[in-house]
Amino acid sequence: MPATVIVGLQWGDEGKGKTTDFLAEQVAMVVRYQGGDNAGHTVVTGDEVFKLHLVPSGVLYPHITSVIGNGVVVNPATLIAELDMLTGRGIDVGRVRVSRSAHVIMPYHVALDRGNEARLAEAKVGTTGRGIGPAYGDRAWRLGLRMEDLLDRSVLRTRLEAVLPDKNLVLGGMGANGFTVDAMVDVAAAWGERLAPHLDDSTWLVQAALARGEHVLLEGAQGTLLDLDHGSYPFVTSSNPVAGGACTGGGIGPLQVDEVLGVMKAYATRVGSGPFPTELQDEIGAGIARRGNEFGTTTGRPRRVGWFDAVPLRYAVAVNSISSITLNKLDILSGIPEIQLCVAYDVHGRRVDHWPSSALAIADATPIYETFPGWDEPIHDVRSLAGLPENARRYLTALEELAGVPIVLVSVGPERTQTIERAWRPMRHRGGVPLA
Ligand code: IMP
Repeated sequence: MPATVIVGLQWGDEGKGKTTDFLAEQVAMVVRYQGGDNAGHTVVTGDEVFKLHLVPSGVLYPHITSVIGNGVVVNPATLIAELDMLTGRGIDVGRVRVSRSAHVIMPYHVALDRGNEARLAEAKVGTTGRGIGPAYGDRAWRLGLRMEDLLDRSVLRTRLEAVLPDKNLVLGGMGANGFTVDAMVDVAAAWGERLAPHLDDSTWLVQAALARGEHVLLEGAQGTLLDLDHGSYPFVTSSNPVAGGACTGGGIGPLQVDEVLGVMKAYATRVGSGPFPTELQDEIGAGIARRGNEFGTTTGRPRRVGWFDAVPLRYAVAVNSISSITLNKLDILSGIPEIQLCVAYDVHGRRVDHWPSSALAIADATPIYETFPGWDEPIHDVRSLAGLPENARRYLTALEELAGVPIVLVSVGPERTQTIERAWRPMRHRGGVPLA
């Protein structure tokens, strides 16, 4: 019963979409297990570029069932727009399934998210403004609406009558407009009517696929360092991108996971506020941002850029039980004379090797770097490790040794084909459901 989990090892935007898309040929089902339309997956196939926020990138393959799991918070308006966009571009969305238990992001969640950020001013988290935190908050407070609730006007009315007065009170305090029950019932019921054919019991879908011996890929959004429990709280998202989140949010048990593939970039980026010890605010950083097109897929905000940080890498490998790694965007470092790699922190004169999951502790960390000579050659056309410049191989080997697990895929460009595959790769040996 092979299930593979794909997780981001950094602050999100590691290129999980490309990795999922690359592996999708071998699998029958791709499941998103947390987050919402705060995520953005860019997939390049030939001349076509697809930007997806909610629908798993496996949708681009006709043989794959794409599942939005119970752990996701769904903005139905975004989902409908995405389904329409895909249909308009000739992609069959008939096999997109959405968990009936997934929670709904309502317009008041979006308004609360934005109002709260404005209120926090300088102390803001820098959220994507998509209502993620308030929707997960209501889920935990048992005040949320689930996708199945959209199918019943009377359920909608009862629940909205219970929650809206409080929401309007808070929104009023923030100087924002409130919402009426009638308008919300109409909007939500229309979403329900439109999405009804896609709603399903996603846990049993996943379990049935595994029981048939099909290969299921569970893809995380964001990354380990934005995890609600393991990231630099409070500068985190409101869900669990770590591999454990695939169990609670994807409907599988821990022993059904037989591989956890970590995805990371050859350098670091972060969107939003929060400490970032290896951040570059010079020309080198600006060059990486430019070449790497480091702008948020969801918000268009420029991403902060920095050297690779191996301190949280070790933590991420441990907490996700990573079995292998995909290294993305190695090509972006071509042309930099010297590459720095952070191996530990100096905190008030003390060497720290362990990632402290606290924004306060990380704020005082000064990186301790090891310097690697760079390479000038463009590497877009390289398809084997042996074909890489010696200094690129040296850097890659250092990353691998620091991680303690093998790097099995190396990406040297945005296209599906611009990937170096290591001869050894466990997924190849499992069979799964190969494409004809
Ligand atoms: P939220 O998830 O919109 O609540 O934002 C919380 C934090 O997570 C902010 O720092 C966001 O910039 C960050 N974040 C959320 N989604 C992504 C993502 O897909 N990539 C990178 N950062 C993200």
